[in-house]
Amino acid sequence: MSNAKRNIFVTTALPYANGAFHFGHILEYVQADIWVRHERMCGNNVHFVCADDAHGAPIMIAAHKQGITPQEFVAKISAGRQQYLDNFFIQFDHWHCTESPENTELSQDIYLRLKDAGLIYTTDIEQFYDEEAGMFLADRFIKGTCPKCGAPDQYGDACEKCSSVYSPTDLIDPRSAISGTTPVLKTSTHYFFRLSDPRAQQFLREWTGGKAADGKPHVQAEVLAKDEEWLNGNLADWDISRDAPYFGIEIPGAPGKYFYVWLDAPIGYLASFKAYCAKKGMDFVHELTRPDTEQIHFIGKDIIYFHTLFWPAMLHFAGKPYRVPDHVNVHGFMTVNGQKMSKSRGTGISPLDYLKLGMNAEWMRYYLAAKLNSRVEDVDFTKDDFQARVNSDLIGKYVNIASRAAGFIFKRFEGRVSDEAMKDKVLSGIRAAADEIRDDYENREYARAMRRIMQLADVINEYVDREKPWELAKNPEQAARLQYVASVALEGFRLLTLYLKPVLPATAERVEKFLNCEPLNWSSVDACLASSRPISKFEHLMGRVDREKQLDVLLPDATAAQAIKPEKKAAPKAAPAAPAASIAAAAAPAEVEAVADVCTIDDFSKIDLRVARVVKAEDVEGADKLIRLELDIGDGRNRQVFAGIKAYYKPETLTGRLIVMIANLAPRKMRFGVSEGMVLAASYQSDKGRGVYLITPFEGAEPGMRLR
Ligand code: MSP
Ligand code: ZN
Repeated sequence: MSNAKRNIFVTTALPYANGAFHFGHILEYVQADIWVRHERMCGNNVHFVCADDAHGAPIMIAAHKQGITPQEFVAKISAGRQQYLDNFFIQFDHWHCTESPENTELSQDIYLRLKDAGLIYTTDIEQFYDEEAGMFLADRFIKGTCPKCGAPDQYGDACEKCSSVYSPTDLIDPRSAISGTTPVLKTSTHYFFRLSDPRAQQFLREWTGGKAADGKPHVQAEVLAKDEEWLNGNLADWDISRDAPYFGIEIPGAPGKYFYVWLDAPIGYLASFKAYCAKKGMDFVHELTRPDTEQIHFIGKDIIYFHTLFWPAMLHFAGKPYRVPDHVNVHGFMTVNGQKMSKSRGTGISPLDYLKLGMNAEWMRYYLAAKLNSRVEDVDFTKDDFQARVNSDLIGKYVNIASRAAGFIFKRFEGRVSDEAMKDKVLSGIRAAADEIRDDYENREYARAMRRIMQLADVINEYVDREKPWELAKNPEQAARLQYVASVALEGFRLLTLYLKPVLPATAERVEKFLNCEPLNWSSVDACLASSRPISKFEHLMGRVDREKQLDVLLPDATAAQAIKPEKKAAPKAAPAAPAASIAAAAAPAEVEAVADVCTIDDFSKIDLRVARVVKAEDVEGADKLIRLELDIGDGRNRQVFAGIKAYYKPETLTGRLIVMIANLAPRKMRFGVSEGMVLAASYQSDKGRGVYLITPFEGAEPGMRLR
């Protein structure tokens, strides 16, 4: 990497201003904030901004219900943002709002440029109208069945199941979410962005498959695959107007017409940056057009379509000073116990509850870092995992080093380290890892960085275990050795603190203070502790998470998923079982089979379990128990499996479903053909009979994913 300072404009998705933050938002901000802090530690110049996404029908309707203006409604939500950001150490340079003069001006400007480029046209379209409510229905206020994949209960603009974007009139069986009535079609003139234009198609193919100036692809491989799927399916033109009454920005030259919220929302990134430039006395156009500027967006997987197709196309065809994004970095969703976060399902955890319980925000930052990578993978929260990562790793390994070493140096040696100890080979090993960890941050491979840092912490702890400073301390003749050993440990701790600083900014600051060193950054790897700068008294850095008083209160155990564990005795604290759980319990076997002998992780890893899609399922002539399955595990070759499930499933109910197969089982020749694996099912046998239940993964899994 060159020494030139980079100039990076970073954003996170603009949250809808209709509710408080949940941990999904925090995940996104923490992911971006870690990256931004890392870049700053590299000496780069970063502008990190966000804003409230104020517009759209849902906010208008919510405000109306409360008897206030949408502006007042949004202002109330906005006012609540800062406490989350401060408490979780999320350091945006500026927080703006899409309902702002900057956004109006930029949105109208971009629109007029697209119009000049010949990419805007109008058409009369028939649209759903709620006669009872007296208004055209926004996409989010129509629900029905997805026209692409058949998923029921989807919104009018996009399918949460297959991520397709479509128009509400494509929905099967539409209903108004406001009055519950079946909407009628009414004609109105709409404005469209001509994405079907060959120029747009060509540009998007180039951009989605292309690379930024840093040589890295604009989008991750999984995102490109999704984009290609959409591009190959031929992009439809995009309806960018909505009729009054609407809370949004007026379309110039079109009275009574407003920009659809998704047109002005991403422009809000620029509006926020512009307002920030004004605040800082910087020139917005200059900053945006500097050849060394990089524009990077962090977003979640549900808004890929908007950010990797619509947004680059808008920017590209609007022309200078606008610029296309260098990178759109997509993360997966935060789940709790493997399920979507939801209060009603008992999988809701709120950031404010978390803080109110006295839980340390840096625990969560560390937890998220320990689970995040550069791929579009969901991040699951479970209490056991959280407790282990925080108490065993963060406290047990990292914080522990300081408490083992600092006291000796402070009390016995007037806070002075041994300068000679700084050259110890244990420390050379720790310093040598710096580049790798730095690259992992750069590439958003935080989980790998955290693993590496914890391995280094192990190395230091093993060194301390070996050298036993507490024994050395008993013998005055060993004073020099004691100082040496404690110094090695403390310098190791300084290095680990540097490595963890993007994740643990507050702790790092306290450590800098007690070690009496300059703010740590990536150029301080070799700037070791010195006897000439004595350390201060070690202050308690971070406590452990308390299972009963904190985690169990934050997330009580009585979720359906846990209640169906075949436990005979109800846990004393468990709330009444949810209906789903009691149904499952009623069907459960009377006797639970004894758990098999212990196997090692190596034994387990020999078995290659994959998510498989049933491409075809049919009865087998002459076999009364078997169904013949053709399974797709994503590698282009379907596997044939004969499964003894005919008594439990009709073949036609299996086609298209995701199940789990053992992919590396030795093939078995049967009378009807070769069976190339087995499918996984839960079963029981009791005096009431036998039950067989195929195992199917949670939503979001794709054929070929391995089970671990
Ligand atoms: N307002 C739009 C974004 C406009 S950007 C020009 C929006 N808002 S949102 O509040 O619904 O989501 C904001 C961000 O949070 C999105 O990137 C979204 O993917 C992310 N998340 C929402 N739920 C999430 C999880 N459960 N987990 C992780 N991120 C999640 O979409
Ligand atoms: Zn769908």
